[in-house]
This record gives sequence, C-alpha cells and structure tokens, in this order.
Amino acid sequence: MCGIVGYTGPKEAYPIIIKGLKRLEYRGYDSTGVALLNHGLKVYKKKGRVAELEDNIVGKDLHAHIGIGHTRWATHGEPSDRNAHPHVSASGKLAIIHNGIIENYAQLKQELVKKGYSFTSDTDTEVLLNFIEEIKKNNKCDLEEAVRVALKRVVGAYVILLIDEDDPETIIAARKGSPLVIGIGKGEHFLGSDASPMLEYTKEVVYVNDYELAIVKPDELILKNLGNEKITPYVQKLDVELAAIEKGGYDHFMLKEIFEQPQTIYDCLRGRLDAIAGTITMSGIQEYADQIMDANRIVMIACGTSWHAGLVAEYIFEELARINVEVEYASEFRYRNPVINKGDVIIAISQSGETADTLVAIENAKSKGAIVLGVVNVVGSSIARTSHGGAYTHAGPEIGVASTKAFTAQLAVLTMIALKIGYEKDILQRNRYMHLLNGLYEIPEKVAWTLKQNESIKAIAEKYKDARDFLYLGRGYNFPVALEGALKLKEISYIHAEGYPAAEMKHGPIALVDENLPVVFVATKDSYHHKVVSNIQEIKARKGKVIAVITEGDDSTAAMCDDVIIVPEADEILAPMLSVIPLQLLAYYIGVAKEYDVDKPRNLAKSVTVE
Ligand code: F6R
Repeated sequence: MCGIVGYTGPKEAYPIIIKGLKRLEYRGYDSTGVALLNHGLKVYKKKGRVAELEDNIVGKDLHAHIGIGHTRWATHGEPSDRNAHPHVSASGKLAIIHNGIIENYAQLKQELVKKGYSFTSDTDTEVLLNFIEEIKKNNKCDLEEAVRVALKRVVGAYVILLIDEDDPETIIAARKGSPLVIGIGKGEHFLGSDASPMLEYTKEVVYVNDYELAIVKPDELILKNLGNEKITPYVQKLDVELAAIEKGGYDHFMLKEIFEQPQTIYDCLRGRLDAIAGTITMSGIQEYADQIMDANRIVMIACGTSWHAGLVAEYIFEELARINVEVEYASEFRYRNPVINKGDVIIAISQSGETADTLVAIENAKSKGAIVLGVVNVVGSSIARTSHGGAYTHAGPEIGVASTKAFTAQLAVLTMIALKIGYEKDILQRNRYMHLLNGLYEIPEKVAWTLKQNESIKAIAEKYKDARDFLYLGRGYNFPVALEGALKLKEISYIHAEGYPAAEMKHGPIALVDENLPVVFVATKDSYHHKVVSNIQEIKARKGKVIAVITEGDDSTAAMCDDVIIVPEADEILAPMLSVIPLQLLAYYIGVAKEYDVDKPRNLAKSVTVE
C-alpha cells in the first residue's frame, strides 16, 4: 500500500514522478505529493488523486533533476493535505516518503517531544523523519549514517526515500517488508514500489532486499546492509512491456484484465502443459515433487481472492492427489501458534507477492522447517524470493484493484501442480489424467466463449444494480467461486454480498430471502448439480430472485431461474475457471452502472503491505 517514486539524473524529475505515481495509484489514492530539490526543497501535496495534485500545481516552479513522489493509502492519520507525504523535517532541509507502518512511533514521538519537537501531521512518517534528523544533528553525521542508526531502533515495515538539501543529487532509500525497485539508466536512476514508473526508460532493475540501504546518485548506486557493509547489486532484466500496463482501449483496467483471461491462462499453461505428450513441466515444483508427494498435509496460505483460489485447490488436491489440504488466512495463521510438522508443505498464493500477512506467515512456517512453495504473479516480488520454490502465474501486471485474471491463473497453476503430483503418485489413472490435461488445454478457448456473454451480463447488471444485498451460493468446486463472486461485488459496487455453501443456506441465510433479494447460484453441471437445483427451488419457493450461472444446454435449470448466464461444459475440476468469469463481469457492470471508480474502489489498495 502506498506508491513511491524517485528520480535522480539529467532529466526533468517532475514529469517522470507524476507519470510514475499515476501508474502506482492502484496502491493507494488517499493523497498525493512530490518533493523536488532545486536550490532548496519544494514540496507540493494534496488530499485526493494524482490528477488533482497535477491540476493544483500548474504554473508552480517544478523544475528539478531530483525528486520523490508518493501516493498514499492512509494508516496513521486521516486522508488530508497535512497528512499527505512527503513530510519535511523540523529544519526544513529533509523530505521523506514512506510506505509501511512504524509500530513504535508513539515512543519515538514522546522522546522527540521532550526534546522540543512539534509535529504538523498525525503520521508515523513525520516522527521517523525527525528522529533521523535528530540523530544527524546529535551524531554530526551524514544522512546515510543517520538513517542507518535510526532504522536499528525502528520496529515495523517500511520503504523510505529521503532527500536532503545539503546533498542535492542523492536519494537515500531503505526497505524492510515493503517493495522497492531501483531502475538503472545511463547516468540516472529511478526508484519505485514496482517497476512500472521506469518501464519506458530502462529494463535493468535491482530489487532491494529487507534491511538494505541504497545510496542513489545519478551515476552511482551503492547498496549496503545496516552494518554499513557494501553489497553487490544483483541486476535483473525486466520482461514487462509498456503496453501491459496501459488500458489498451478498454474503459477500465478491470475490464481489460477480465478480457485478457483467455490469453493469460494460455500464457500460464504455455511451455508447461503438453496435452499430446501428457506432460506437465514445472521446474520450481519438480525440485520439490518428492516432498509434495510424501507430504502428510499441504497448507495453503493466502488472503482475499488468492485465499479463494486456495479453497478451490483444496478440493482439487484432495481429489487428484489424495493429500490432506488445509487452507488458512495468512493473517490468522501468522498469529496462531500453528502446528507445523516436518514434512508439511506450505503453498503461499499471492498476486502481488508483497502481501505483508502472507509474507510473515511464510517466514514463520520456514522457521519451523516447512517447505514453502510460492504461487505468485509478480516476478521478483518478496514472496517469490523468499519461497523455496514454486511457480509464477504469468498473468502479467494486474492493475485493477479487484483481482480477476490473477485468480484464474492461480487456478491454472494449482490445477497443474495437483495433476502432476496426482499422476506421479499413481493416484490419478492415465485416462483421467489425459482427459483433464486436454480439458485444461481447452480452457482459454472456453473462457473466450464465456466472455461473449458480456452484453447479456451487462443487461442483468442493469436489472439488479439497485439491490441492497446479494447472496451467492455454490457447492463443491463452485463454493469458493460463490465466495469470490460476492467479494467482487462488495469491492466494486459497495453492495453487501455474502457467499455461502448452497446447502448451508437452510441453516440461517434463508431467513434473508424475499422478493427483493437476488440470489446468484453457481450451478454448472457437476456431481452436486441436482442438489443445487433443489436449493434453487427452495429460493424460488420463497420468492427470491435467482440468477444462475449454468452449463450450456441445461434448459431445465434455465427454466426455473429469473436470469441465466451460460458457460461451456467442462469437467467439474476445471469449471471454476469458467464459472467465475460471469461473476467478475456482473460485479464490474453493476459498479459501472452505479458510476463508481471500479479500478480504484474506496478504501482499498492493490498491494496490502501493512497488516
Ligand atoms: C480482491 C483482492 C484482494 C487480494 C488480497 C491478496 O479482489 O484483490 O482480496 O486478493 O489482498 O492479495 P495478493 O494476492 O496480492 O496477496
């Protein structure tokens, strides 16, 4: 959460920073600010989006070759002009931007207040900055040394970028627990929460690790640990193209990303699944195949949509590989004292690869001897780097705050792992294995077919957009899809929605049903279909409105429902990759009909790097 950008070099810094902030706005959009150094420090900041700041500072002196910029997701202090970053130190010489939380800020603040400091904001960030300034003054050291000393006392997570009037070419940056990428240009350096602000300038990047400090000048990048020892930067090549982070003619990133799914699922399977030879090649999994096959249990840890992918995978792994699977919210797992036995395998699922709770849960599990495999979208992200092995989902940058294409790519990867392990373990017979491999291979085409229902889903969205609540029901593999459909609707349209296993409805939620309640059934043809049909009847008997996602040709179910959305026939193990698509579109079109900003829903941020 919070996006940070920095630049030092011969170009004008402001346009690079503003463009970079627009790309990072998905990380938070409560306020925006920039600090520029050119014969003194200039700071411009404002509550609201990047575009509002941009409009507000037209005509101001924006000339500089070094600067830092921030787009905020508020943690300490309400979204306001005065709580917006950058913050300036008491002397007026230092400016800081920060992504993360300083947990012991109250204690540090008390110490500073005793020394006569006062504060203009409610943020932990301003406290940290003045703490650094106090050390610089007391120890008569440079900013780099002051940051190093200060960070040894700091408890919490951070990426910080600082500039100093007394050293007008240098950005000091440090990280613990939040992401920081440094792009290397010719006589210039770029800094960002991810690589998107630097894509058109360089493809060479360094991912800074926890407890590292970077001294960044136009033609020099020095990395050190907190013990002041130099570290050789590991330069990596980016393989993301600019087009991947642009809207490409769609009204919203969310719609673009929903429509990309035939391609992203295909990209995920490409080079791995060979449906003719009957092979699945995944080197980051193969290395640990014996441990997975011998595992007493697999624990999936994740949050939000990724947790839903874990729930689907639970059904798939237990069915295909007969391994006991538990699915845990990372935030609960990390604070319990979970029993981890030797031989347990953890699968951490994350789009961003930066979710703080998932990251800490992984560290806990690793410290207890578990093998951790990451199913991650963002290449080079913290979770990808800290896992022992795993597989990337290759869905490309997901910018819409609501996760869509990452979910189906996670399902594709997790299904491939389950198929591979089930087959190698001899649980899965050749016929069934080949049938599923072929079925998986056909999924991109079937997703493309499903997307053709776009217009009819839009019409259904119009019809129900004013409902106050929604219920989403499904069974078996489609139960987590119901949860995901409800989550998408809540996020994008701010309509209260609940997902439930269809059979559980009778144990409580059925009391909600009346003629005003739309109930979305995920009712594709599977082994539970006749049971789900009974549940549809139960809702209809109580005058509920039924919208159902059904399999092509299922006319008898269609006849019972108020509205239906059709998906192609598929094996029940693979069906969630299809049945979720209409639910993504339904949420999208309801959000659009209500004129909400579907790419940046209120209160949310894409990458949850605070707990
Ligand atoms: C929902 C959504 C969130 C994320 C969750 C985990 O649309 O985007 O629920 O799924 O914050 O994020 P990752 O997958 O990045 O760990």
